[in-house]
Amino acid sequence: MTVDGKITTKNFTPVDFTSREDKTHLFRQRALGDAVLIGHSTLKHDNVRLGLPDPKMREARIARGQTPYPLRVIVSNEGRIDPSLKIFQTDISPIVIFSTVRMPKRYQDALRKKATLHLSDARSVDLAWMLQQLRRDYGVRTVACEGGATLFRALLEHDLVDQLNLTIAPYLFGGATAPTLTGLSKDFLPRSVRCTLTEMRTVGEECFLTYRIKHRRR
Ligand SMILES: NC(=O)c1ccc[n+]([C@@H]2O[C@H](COP(=O)([O-])OP(=O)(O)OC[C@H]3O[C@@H](n4cnc5c(N)ncnc54)[C@H](OP(=O)(O)O)[C@@H]3O)[C@@H](O)[C@H]2O)c1
Repeated sequence: MTVDGKITTKNFTPVDFTSREDKTHLFRQRALGDAVLIGHSTLKHDNVRLGLPDPKMREARIARGQTPYPLRVIVSNEGRIDPSLKIFQTDISPIVIFSTVRMPKRYQDALRKKATLHLSDARSVDLAWMLQQLRRDYGVRTVACEGGATLFRALLEHDLVDQLNLTIAPYLFGGATAPTLTGLSKDFLPRSVRCTLTEMRTVGEECFLTYRIKHRRR
């Protein structure tokens, strides 16, 4: 994010304001997950494949007993996911989509050829239930969530985030229509989320922060 907390521009363009080191940092975090999770809007705007370009990262995964690439998980309430997106043109690892029965039939038919669909009867996906399914059906123990802000905020609201990796890039955007880390919503979070800073590293002009998120008492 920028110094003033923006994660993209007002036009929701893909992030091009961070360094090569930050991109590698993202791949390193992705490489740790049994699964990588992305919101539909980020998938649509960034058109990412969610692969791992560095063979060493894939070798390290195999040495840890993981698959070479993480399971790729997409979350969408409406389910109008374009089957021609790049992610569906790459079969490096299975793709799982969590959505609802609101997904139109023609999308269901097209996407079923490329991914496994989990469609719930509710109007929106229950994210805790989704994580339970990932654990039960796919043996997923760690999920690397790559955003965007709407999904991250929803996970925070349900107390489902353990760690936040945050890079501060040396820019200020200003404005009210470029999303911050928790999106564009004017609403406060239901309660403030307490973080503990566990690591801080500077490389060039960027600051790489790791926070542990304190869970509410359950
Ligand atoms: N700077 C960064 O590190 C960074 C990281 C990630 C993304 N971004 C940027 O952020 C922008 C997108 O952010 P965003 O906040 O608009 O989108 P997002 O969180 O990626 O996606 C929002 C969409 O995901 C689905 N979704 C979100 N929460 C859900 C839930 N609880 N249950 C079910 N589905 C849920 C919905 O899809 P449907 O509409 O299909 O129902 C929702 O509209 C892009 O411009 C991207 O480039 C920046």
